[in-house]
Amino acid sequence: MSRGVLIAFEGIDGSGLTTHSRLLVEWLNSMGYKSLWTKEPTDNSPFSGLLKSLLRRGNVNHFSLGLLFAADRMWHLLEDPSLPGNGIIGALSSGYVVVTDRYKYSSMAYQGSFTGIDYIWAINSRAPRADVLVYIDVPVDLALKRIEERGAIPDIYEKRELLTAIKESFKTVLSHAKKEGALVIEVSPVRGDREMPIHTVQNEIRNRVVEYLKTVKETTRA
Ligand code: TYD
Repeated sequence: MSRGVLIAFEGIDGSGLTTHSRLLVEWLNSMGYKSLWTKEPTDNSPFSGLLKSLLRRGNVNHFSLGLLFAADRMWHLLEDPSLPGNGIIGALSSGYVVVTDRYKYSSMAYQGSFTGIDYIWAINSRAPRADVLVYIDVPVDLALKRIEERGAIPDIYEKRELLTAIKESFKTVLSHAKKEGALVIEVSPVRGDREMPIHTVQNEIRNRVVEYLKTVKETTRA
């Protein structure tokens, strides 16, 4: 039986998760790994529309929001018909390297900042751990600058105090993830006070991910 690999990208808003996760998938495919990109919150579950409007309006408690993210996640894992074999679990059992732009660790850091991590951990207990968690550690100032430049309507978390608290809670989340057995790869787009080019950060991610993939014999190659 082939077994795939689950790679989750995590970080605060404005940390470049989408850019780096997509570039990684393109590159893995060019290297002969059967890889696919996906994201949370999903765009096509029965919960996506509701989640997105709540994220704009912010008039809901974080316990309920955590449950909705968990519901969206279980659908993503078990049912999402856009993934081969239906859902992340299906894609993994077909041997894919599944790269997800956010996963249960976002729930722990975002909703968990308000509810406590244990509650979020419990309601996500059926979501398997990621094999690899790529954490992009971006300073809050840079994240806010990028969010402003993006020009989209900000969601409820895109404020300095909240992103600072969420960044802090990611530290605890990473240690939970390590204890659960995930390989945590931490990268930063900033050295000293200089912002690194995308390709420098991406190369570091590629090297560390491929080093891991080479140790996983069962991963199918296309
Ligand atoms: P984001 O990655 O910005 O998705 P999109 O590109 O579709 O807008 O995620 C939206 C927001 O949701 C972001 O602020 C992080 C937050 N979020 C949580 O609070 N909990 C979660 O479990 C997930 C997956 C995301």
